[in-house]
Order: sequence, then C-alpha cells, then structure tokens
Amino acid sequence: MRTPTSPTMANLQAAFAGESMAHIKYLHFARIARAHGDLETAALFEETAKQEVQHALGHADLLFPPASLDPRKALQLAIEGETHEYTEMYPAFHHAAVQEGNSQAAGEFAEQIAESQQHAAEFATLLAKAAKRFAALAKVEERHAQQYQRRLQAAG
Ligand SMILES: [Fe+2]
Ligand SMILES: [Fe+2]
Repeated sequence: MRTPTSPTMANLQAAFAGESMAHIKYLHFARIARAHGDLETAALFEETAKQEVQHALGHADLLFPPASLDPRKALQLAIEGETHEYTEMYPAFHHAAVQEGNSQAAGEFAEQIAESQQHAAEFATLLAKAAKRFAALAKVEERHAQQYQRRLQAAG
C-alpha cells in the first residue's frame, strides 16, 4: 500500500486492512467450528465474513476511487503492490524469521516471495498485452482525426 496522504487516508488503509482480515479470520474460524461439529457457529462466522467483504469494499471505493481507475491503472497498482511484497516485505520477513529460528514462518514467507513474483509477472504480461491494444486504438483514433482534417480541408 502506498504512503497515505492524510490521517484519514491512513485510517482508511487501516480500516480496509482490518475488514479484509476479519473476512479471512472468520472464514478460518468457521472451518474450525465446522471441524468441531458446531455448524451454528460456523454459519454465523461465514455470514459475518460476507458482510466484512462489503465493509472492505466500501473502504476500497474511497482508497481507490473507481472514477480515477481503469484496467491499465489497476494493473499498474497491482504490480506495484506485488513487487513491494516480493522485493521488500517478504524478504525482510523471511530474514527475521530465519534469525528467530522460526522455520515454519520462514518457509511460508519464502513461498510468498515466489507467489508474489508470479502474480506481478502475470499482471505485467497482461499489462503489456493491453499496452499493444491501447497503442492500436490510438492509431485508429489518429487515422480518424487525419481523415476528418482532410475532409475539413476539402470542404474549405
Ligand atoms: Fe466490519
Ligand atoms: Fe499476491
């Protein structure tokens, strides 16, 4: 996530993270309740998890205003995030886990370095394809503009 531009943007980021976490945490708790045969508790956790998604999406609307985004910008933001994860965040976490002798966490972080790198690569591939599409569209636009210009000159 980018550095927030104001205290409220920082709060929105924290709220977005909290609601997103609650969603996954409740799905996790639901699995535990289900494993214990407590279907009622599992159902309540699953139902609440769905609502947390809506809360997180509400915050996302303010953090990433749809009017300011298109698929290309969204891909760029996603690449930025995944690149931060595999170049800075997870390597630092992995290093600390190794230092602490927590091999389980170290293994998990190492896996996430690979996963984030893969995600960044997939987004970048699609962005490159989209770039070609945008370039082709721009050429068509340019041709139309030239034709329009010629017609204007002919008419004049
Ligand atoms: Fe919530
Ligand atoms: Fe990822």
